[in-house]
Amino acid sequence: MQFQKLLLAFAVSFIVFFSSAQKIKILTSGTETSLRGLSVINDSVIWVSGSNGSVAVSTDGGNNWKWITVAGYGKRDYRDIEAFDAKTAIILAIDEPALLLKTSDGGSTWNEIYTDTTKGVFLDAMDFNKNGKAIIVGDPLEGKEYRLQYDVKHQRAGKINTRLHFKEGEAFFASSGTNIKWIPHTKNYVFVTGGKRSRFFLNGLWYDLPMIEEKESTGANSIAVWDKNNMVIVGGDFANDTSTTKNAVITQNAGRTWFQPATPPHGYRSCVEYITKNKLIACGTSGVDISKDGGMNWTLISNESFYVCQKSKQGKVVFLAGKDGRIARWKE
Ligand SMILES: *[C@@H]1O[C@H](CO)[C@@H](O)[C@H](O)[C@H]1NC(C)=O
Ligand SMILES: *[C@@H]1O[C@H](CO)[C@@H](O)[C@H](O)[C@H]1NC(C)=O
Ligand SMILES: *[C@@H]1O[C@H](CO)[C@@H](O)[C@H](O)[C@H]1NC(C)=O
Ligand SMILES: *[C@@H]1O[C@H](CO)[C@@H](O)[C@H](O)[C@H]1NC(C)=O
Ligand SMILES: *[C@@H]1O[C@H](CO)[C@@H](O)[C@H](O)[C@H]1NC(C)=O
Repeated sequence: MQFQKLLLAFAVSFIVFFSSAQKIKILTSGTETSLRGLSVINDSVIWVSGSNGSVAVSTDGGNNWKWITVAGYGKRDYRDIEAFDAKTAIILAIDEPALLLKTSDGGSTWNEIYTDTTKGVFLDAMDFNKNGKAIIVGDPLEGKEYRLQYDVKHQRAGKINTRLHFKEGEAFFASSGTNIKWIPHTKNYVFVTGGKRSRFFLNGLWYDLPMIEEKESTGANSIAVWDKNNMVIVGGDFANDTSTTKNAVITQNAGRTWFQPATPPHGYRSCVEYITKNKLIACGTSGVDISKDGGMNWTLISNESFYVCQKSKQGKVVFLAGKDGRIARWKE
């Protein structure tokens, strides 16, 4: 009897453990900011950035957050952030003037590291490699590409001269800061465009993507890179966010050919991330999906809206952020 009770208790807690293990835990919400920037250093230190000049940092795994309005730049929309520790971070503002700011004191003060007052300038996303080198993409100006590089060590930012031309209406989404990525352990990076045309770029080469395109709201939003061969792209149509039409593609040969998943993510997705080589997470305004087979089949795990998700760089936990200051944690 006693043993059976114990067995039952064990079985019940086992079930509870497994059902809750699949759940996304909301850590905070109700702030008037739309969060699209996320940088997770480890399972303890997490930074987010968003509209209304907002940045927040947690040093205890997301249980407590310190909210900051960026002093002197409190009206800007910070669509991307890269953090280096609990004190140091760089944020990217969309719109005019182009603006990159850096803090070294946990967000109390910020210094401009790049600004450009050219009419029509619009930065979208950035990615840093392990050596502190960043590539930053902005929307094309008069059809010409706008790309920057930045070096944390030398604190130098500057424009890269490129000859790439974009189709009218082809641009970058500033939806999660993840449409540009370094390929781990290489000197190369990749980026993806959307809008009237959706393309994948690598080293001056480009390939058209078999994703939904033609409208301002369509195309690739985010690319996850496992290695030089294996990558997954998500997007879709943010104006039709439950449609699964051509909203994700996979490559296994460095971008030369792309194919669609057997079961696509359940709607428009603004961000995709590798957790392991086979396991991925993707989120968007109509929910969150996971794949356990390299992006071939996706399962909806939440209907909750999130713009951005990221696995901790030195840990295992996944964090998500979205509208109304919502931040969540997902741990398997
Ligand atoms: C910014 O914050 C103010 C209150 O501090 C709020 O009234 C406003 O709606 C917010 N705007 C956005 C875009 O979040
Ligand atoms: C996380 O990173 C911070 C800042 O670099 C460090 O102080 C802390 O010890 C790290 N925590 C864990 C759990 O790795
Ligand atoms: C939304 O997506 C559905 C399913 O893919 C499609 O049938 C419909 O035409 C789309 N609506 C718009 C306005 O694009
Ligand atoms: C996943 O996709 C493959 C197609 O490669 C299909 O054969 C398989 O049945 C799918 N698995 C599930 C669980 O849906
Ligand atoms: C999402 O919503 C649909 C329709 O309301 C529901 O059937 C489904 O169970 C929900 N899925 C999750 C993972 O919450």
